[in-house]
Amino acid sequence: METYIVDWLNTMIRFAHFITGIAWIGASFYFNWLENNLNRSEGQKDGISGHLWAVHGGGFYYLEKYKTYPDKLPEHLHWFKWEAYFTLITGFGLLCVVYYYNATSFLLKAGTSLSATSGILMSLAGLVIAWLIYDQICKSSLVKKQNIVAFIMLILVFISALFYQQFFTPRAVFYQIGAMIGTIMVFNVFFVIMPSQRELVKACVDKTKVGEEVGFRGYIRSRNNNYFTLPVLFIMLSAHFPMFYTGVNPAIMLVLVFITTVLIRHYFNLRGEGKGGKTITLVVAGVITLAVFITLIPSKPKIDVNSQIVTFEQIKPIIENRCATCHSKNPTDDTFTIAPSGFILDTKEQIINAKDVIYSRTVATDSMPLSNKTNMTKEERDMLGNYIISLR
Ligand code: HEC
Repeated sequence: METYIVDWLNTMIRFAHFITGIAWIGASFYFNWLENNLNRSEGQKDGISGHLWAVHGGGFYYLEKYKTYPDKLPEHLHWFKWEAYFTLITGFGLLCVVYYYNATSFLLKAGTSLSATSGILMSLAGLVIAWLIYDQICKSSLVKKQNIVAFIMLILVFISALFYQQFFTPRAVFYQIGAMIGTIMVFNVFFVIMPSQRELVKACVDKTKVGEEVGFRGYIRSRNNNYFTLPVLFIMLSAHFPMFYTGVNPAIMLVLVFITTVLIRHYFNLRGEGKGGKTITLVVAGVITLAVFITLIPSKPKIDVNSQIVTFEQIKPIIENRCATCHSKNPTDDTFTIAPSGFILDTKEQIINAKDVIYSRTVATDSMPLSNKTNMTKEERDMLGNYIISLR
C-alpha cells in the first residue's frame, strides 16, 4: 500500500513539475525571443522602445515594449512568478518522494557509511550553498565579466559532482547538480528579479526615475537563468539513461553537458541578436557531442572462449537471487513491494524477452541491481553477459 501511495505521489508531482516547468521555461523562451525580435526601427510611438506584430492561434497580436514604464500602472499586471515557484516546489517534492524517502536505495551509494539522514542533509546543504556562492559572485564586481562567472560555475559543478560522488549513486549526483542549478534559477526569480520588478512598479506609481543598476541586476539574473535552462533540462532527462552516468565519470560528464548545452543556448542568443561567432559556437558544441557519442559506444562484449557455454539453468538462480527480489510479481524486497517500473523477471520467457535491457543495465553498465542491494558479483555479471551474447 505504501509503495502504491508513493507511486501516485511520484506520478502526480512529476506531472505538476513538468507542467509548471514548461510554463516557466516556455515564458522565459518567449520573452527572450521577443527581446531579440522587437521591431526597434525609427518612428516608434512616444515612450515605446519597440513593437511586434504576431499571428497565432487564429488571431493577430500587437505588443509594445516601454522604454521605462507606462503613464499609469495597469490594473492587471501579470508577473510570471508562480510558474517558477511551483517548478521549485514540485521539483523539491520529487526529490523528497524519490530520493529522500528511499535514500538508502536511490540516494546513497552502495557501501557508503553515511546514514540516510546525513545524506539528505548533505543534499539539502548543497542546494543552499550553491545559491550562496553564486549570489555572492553576482554581487561582486565579477558580474561584469560573464565569461568568468560561467567558468566559475563550471568549476562549481565539477567540484560538487566530485564531492557528491563519494556518497551518492551516480544518478543521484546528476539530480543533485540539476537541483542545485534549478534552485539557483528559482532563487534568482524570488530574491532578485521580483524585487527589481517591484522597484520598477514602484517607480511607475511614484513617477520617479529607476536607477540603471536596478534593471541591470534583474537583467543579469534573467540572462543567467536563460543559460542555465538547457543544462538543467538535459541533466534531468539524461539521468534516465544509465549510459550518461556510468560511461564516463559523472563529474566529467556533467561538465561536458554543461559546456555543450550552454554553447547551444549561446548559439541561439547570438543568432537572435544578429551577432557573429555563431558557426564556431555550434561547431564546438557538435564536436564535444560527437566525442561523447564515440566515448559512450558500448565496447563489443567478449565471449570468454575458455568458459563453457552458459545455460539458462545457470543464470536462472542469478536472476532469482539478484533481480527477482524486486522484479517479481511477488517481490520479497523490504522496500520495493511492487515490481519497479512493472518490470518482472519471473519466467524464462520474461527473462529472454528482456535480454537486451538486462544486458544494458547489468553487464554494459552496473546500474542494476539498484545500489547492488543484492550483492551481485562480477562473475555473475560475466556469466549473464555470456549467456545473453550466446542468444544473439
Ligand atoms: C532493490 C531492488 C532492485 C533490484 C534487486 C533490481 N532492481 Fe532493477 N530496478 C529497480 C528500480 C527501483 C528500478 C526503477 C528505477 C530505474 O530505472 O533505475 C529498476 C529498473 C530496472 C530496469 C528498467 C526497467 C524499465 O522498464 O524502465 C531494468 C532493465 C532492471 N531494473 C533490471 C534489473 C536486473 C537485470 C536486476 C538484477 C541483476 C535488477 N534490476 C535488480 C530496483 C531493483
